[in-house]
Amino acid sequence: MEAILTALRAAFEAASASDNEAAPAYAKLRDGIDWNATLRATAPASRPVVERWFEAACNGLADGPMAALGRAVLANADNLEWISIYQSYEDDPTLAEFLDNYAILRLVSPGGPLVCENMTAALSLQGPNTFYPPHAHKQEEVYGVLAGTAEWQRGAEPWVTREPEEIFLHTSGIRHATRTAGEPLLSLACWTHDVTLPIVIVTA
Ligand SMILES: [Fe+2]
Repeated sequence: MEAILTALRAAFEAASASDNEAAPAYAKLRDGIDWNATLRATAPASRPVVERWFEAACNGLADGPMAALGRAVLANADNLEWISIYQSYEDDPTLAEFLDNYAILRLVSPGGPLVCENMTAALSLQGPNTFYPPHAHKQEEVYGVLAGTAEWQRGAEPWVTREPEEIFLHTSGIRHATRTAGEPLLSLACWTHDVTLPIVIVTA
């Protein structure tokens, strides 16, 4: 886990130094996380989407700080605790396909592995041809693409294609969605405040 956190911190550092709109939020993460905080033990766990697509996604790792993070994660693949999210939506049949094709790997959170009460960082894996429907949350969020090209939408903006190493910002409350085509997507998502509040799927 130390190597993963070192790569995460380096990715934050690079993003903070960019002229991207997400740079200030990445600087908050870099400076707000106690990198010497307790490391909580995790129990290795997988999900079907991880078995099917994690290695394939990692084949798309190129060069750059996000890819370096992906390589550090891949090197520790046997010790990762992948989990599902949106447990409160598990009885919604319209989300079943998405929930089967999406998993996250917490890196920094109140539950660890690096314990932090007010900020989070997690990888997400989204299988090919999967639609992550519009959702919103109070948390300011930054994303970074580790591997895979996919389409993203935020607010009333048109869908845009985002490539590996791209970073971008979701301001507090803005609706956003992601759709993959023929390849899986491995990305980094981080919140800078209010990390215990829920995410809401937006249906209208
Ligand atoms: Fe989000």
